[in-house]
Amino acid sequence: MKGIILAGGLGSRLRPLTLVTNKHLLPVYDRPMIYYPIECLINAGLDEIMIVTGGDHAGDFLKLLKNGKDLGAKQMAYAYQEGEGGIADALKLAEDFADGGKVCVVLGDNIIEGNIRQAAGDFFTQKSGAKLLLKEVPDPERFGVAELLDGKVVSIEEKPTEPKSNLAVTGIYFYDNDVFNICKTLVPSKRGELEITDVNNEYIRRGTLTSQVLEGWWTDAGTHESLYRATKLVAEGGANHLQMPAAVGG
Ligand code: DAU
Repeated sequence: MKGIILAGGLGSRLRPLTLVTNKHLLPVYDRPMIYYPIECLINAGLDEIMIVTGGDHAGDFLKLLKNGKDLGAKQMAYAYQEGEGGIADALKLAEDFADGGKVCVVLGDNIIEGNIRQAAGDFFTQKSGAKLLLKEVPDPERFGVAELLDGKVVSIEEKPTEPKSNLAVTGIYFYDNDVFNICKTLVPSKRGELEITDVNNEYIRRGTLTSQVLEGWWTDAGTHESLYRATKLVAEGGANHLQMPAAVGG
């Protein structure tokens, strides 16, 4: 199974920080934001990775990450997203890289304390479909929110004003290769984006979506408040990134 990190978009919620760089190159405590999703994949044993990015600073990813070897990647591939067409639009660009196989998709501004190795193993043995990682949050209206019935996700709403639960859909997704066909059927939402929530709802419709609650803390880092929280959580310790070679070798 290959790993895909989506690191496009304008990062407009982090202006003025993102006026002269890409959001995912901003520091979160002692390293650039993009290191964390890379570490998340590497720690799960997924070392063939594609970074999808865009905008004026895409070249800086290559300068920073090079071939990914220092971070433990076997392969580091890159794709360029024109514009800001949404998460599912960015994912489309990884179809050839996925090469017919299953993928683990991680949003470039998501940071976790723990490890997704077990979930990756579970999805590896899941025949087909998708798997989502959920997390209880105090502010579900900021996220995709899962509605559960008898332990099964029966619907997901993107940024609902009246959330049906406090379970956010984190930006870590496992998909079979049919995800690329589903992405091709999507139409832009009201905010003009191809929504990953529409992809996930299609898997619910097919009856092939599984989910589990993520252990340890999880945060995004796409607003000033959440970037500050992410920095504090990492600085206060417990993140498994300290095991990474980059932390040792500099
Ligand atoms: O963090 C989890 C949440 O991420 C989910 O709960 C939501 O369902 C999902 O829609 C998403 O919500 P956000 O509003 O936080 O997504 P945002 O637009 O901030 O994009 C998150 C990442 O996706 C961003 O860091 C880079 C990537 N992205 C986004 C867009 C819009 C792209 O690569 N290309 C894009 O065009």
